[in-house]
Amino acid sequence: MIAAYQARCQAQVDAALETLFHAPSSELERLYAAMRYSVMNGGKRVRPLLAYAACEALGGASSDADGAACAVELIHAYSLVHDDLPAMDDDDLRRGQPTTHKKFDEACAILAGDGLQSLAFSALLDPRLSPQGDAIRLAMVQAVAQGAGPAGMVGGQAIDLGSVGLKLDQTALEYMHRHKTGALIETSVKVGALASARADAQTLAALQQYAQAIGLAFQVQDDILDVESDTATLGKRQGADIARDKPTYPALLGLEAAKAYALELRDQALAALAGFDDKAEPLRALARYIVERRS
Ligand code: IPE
Ligand code: IPE
Ligand code: MG
Ligand code: MG
Ligand code: MG
Repeated sequence: MIAAYQARCQAQVDAALETLFHAPSSELERLYAAMRYSVMNGGKRVRPLLAYAACEALGGASSDADGAACAVELIHAYSLVHDDLPAMDDDDLRRGQPTTHKKFDEACAILAGDGLQSLAFSALLDPRLSPQGDAIRLAMVQAVAQGAGPAGMVGGQAIDLGSVGLKLDQTALEYMHRHKTGALIETSVKVGALASARADAQTLAALQQYAQAIGLAFQVQDDILDVESDTATLGKRQGADIARDKPTYPALLGLEAAKAYALELRDQALAALAGFDDKAEPLRALARYIVERRS
């Protein structure tokens, strides 16, 4: 079920994203090519899927969430371009291809990331992609700004880079993961729900419980895959965390306990959806997928 849903949503968000990379002049073709290269390269599109699934869980049409889906994927792609830079994780491979700074150059990768971040907000406010009224669009902009910014993803990345070689305890590790990865996953669910124009405070609170659990589970599984997958399957270098002495869940708890924790978080996420009907099945399937995925 998830494979078919994933294929449909991937095609939908990719079609919407494709419309965003037209260089306004020949001088900017290289910058636009670098932005396009960083996005249209076969990511799993988990964050767009979550936005669509949250919108549909509340009875919205998936097309209502096109702007939300594009925005969270654009922010995510920018975060990966910068995460891979030599000053950060210094990685050469992403989604099975050379990282953006390897394919282009470092300055171009920095600017491509900056440009993708701005494009995210343009997509969110584009009436073709976000047909809602202004009040909802404003709430979506605020949610993305918070989740992506210094109190969210960027803050988590700052903690991550400040923790290399340190031994974090579980509370500190969880705080880092909830920010660097959890925040944008929470935002993906929230903007999808807002896009449906049917989200009341109680529903948003239940969805936030769900999203907090899968957001942490997503990074726990990312850490697990760094240990036990392989570079070809991952499309990024296996063992990179160990090589760089990064604090991770398997390093702190051991591989088996990290796996058990990911499953516990999945169950917490499913419990948070207990009051939702069948329209939330894609959200449930995504919670399972996040801890079962192999890449
Ligand atoms: C990788 O994210 C980076 C993390 C936040 C853990 P994904 O595993 O979603 O990467 P793509 O988008 O499929 O390449
Ligand atoms: C990345 O975490 C989180 C963000 C990009 C915000 P990682 O550094 O673990 O991601 P990968 O493993 O390089 O994809
Ligand atoms: Mg990193
Ligand atoms: Mg990295
Ligand atoms: Mg990782």
